[in-house]
Amino acid sequence: MTSKPHGGILINRQSFGQTAAGYDQIIPIDRVALSDLELIANGTYSPLTGFLDQENYESVVEKMRLKRGLAWTIPVTLPVSEEAAAQVSAGDRARLVYQGVVYGTLAVTGKFRPDKENEARKVYGTTDREHPGVKRLFDRGAVYLSGPVRLLRRSPRPQAFAADFLDPVETRRLFDQKGWKTIVGFQTRNPIHRAHEYIQKTALETVDGLFINPLVGETKKDDIPADIRLRSYHVLIDNYYVKERTALAVFPAAMRYAGPREAVFHAICRKNFGCTHFIVGRDHAGVKDYYGPYDAQKIFSHFTREELDIQTLFFENSYYCTKCGSMASNKTCPHDASYHVALSGTKVRAMLRDGIRPPETFSRPQVVQVLIDGLKEKAGQAK
Ligand code: ADX
Repeated sequence: MTSKPHGGILINRQSFGQTAAGYDQIIPIDRVALSDLELIANGTYSPLTGFLDQENYESVVEKMRLKRGLAWTIPVTLPVSEEAAAQVSAGDRARLVYQGVVYGTLAVTGKFRPDKENEARKVYGTTDREHPGVKRLFDRGAVYLSGPVRLLRRSPRPQAFAADFLDPVETRRLFDQKGWKTIVGFQTRNPIHRAHEYIQKTALETVDGLFINPLVGETKKDDIPADIRLRSYHVLIDNYYVKERTALAVFPAAMRYAGPREAVFHAICRKNFGCTHFIVGRDHAGVKDYYGPYDAQKIFSHFTREELDIQTLFFENSYYCTKCGSMASNKTCPHDASYHVALSGTKVRAMLRDGIRPPETFSRPQVVQVLIDGLKEKAGQAK
């Protein structure tokens, strides 16, 4: 028995094969909006059926809830330019077009000018344009359009991991086929290092299955590209995970880097995939020092267990301790930090790009090899 979708029903707004006849206006959308359109349509964002209207937007920004009271922490909006907005009004039926291709339709219910400073402060906790989520917020259009959507066709899937895309109906079926009653979801935008593996497997000790669900939507430039990461996940799973206990599918959402608010959003999306449990570790969805290391855990106290209806599993900062001779965390290791193998994400990415291997106690050599080779290949292609 997988979990119930958020709001009770798994949304399906996919109308593959239908045309956009009768939808006359053209609304150009960006890559993030295209990804949101697809995730609304396949039910990952249940109960959303479209882009938020002003009332729901304000409610999400101010109260972390939809107007009807249901928990929802990230505004899923359709920002367009002033020029594009001038072409449409409530009641219009429009085509959503990315790079000349019609991907979906929008039944326009409204348009509004958001207070982006306020959105940045409330959702990201900062208005600093150096924050990648805040930068994107301000770079995108000044007017938000709202209304229910339909997805007419999927965007092309990267060939390298086309087989790793599963809609929530498919992950739910997969979990049922495997006979899993309890499933822990794991979000990541990074290669799986020892600390990730440690918290995943620790969680797996108490549930039936582990669902590794790496985010592959838009990330910052210096994050490891998704195709290389996917290769590394498969090498790791094939060699070190129990097949009957592990599943992997991608999470094609854009990374917001919104820390605490994004952690709740991530948990809700994983519930929609069918997970009953969700891992939140140290600085989940964080970037630089914008959030405290456990802010993304603390935020869950704003919601009752019943309303989120997914069990969060919190993990302390984890690492290999040379004195313990094992993986450990602040909760289990009595030794001081000088014994801990800890490297920042930025530092590791720089090492890998330079072909320098992080220690085996930080990352498995097979994973490192895939990452170094992949990054070298990319650098060669870029020349
Ligand atoms: S995130 O942006 O997707 O959160 P990352 O891929 O690094 O970044 O993290 C995936 C998950 O593992 C998150 O829940 C994060 O909190 C957790 N995590 C990452 N590194 C550690 C660590 N050293 N100790 C504990 N939890 C960690």
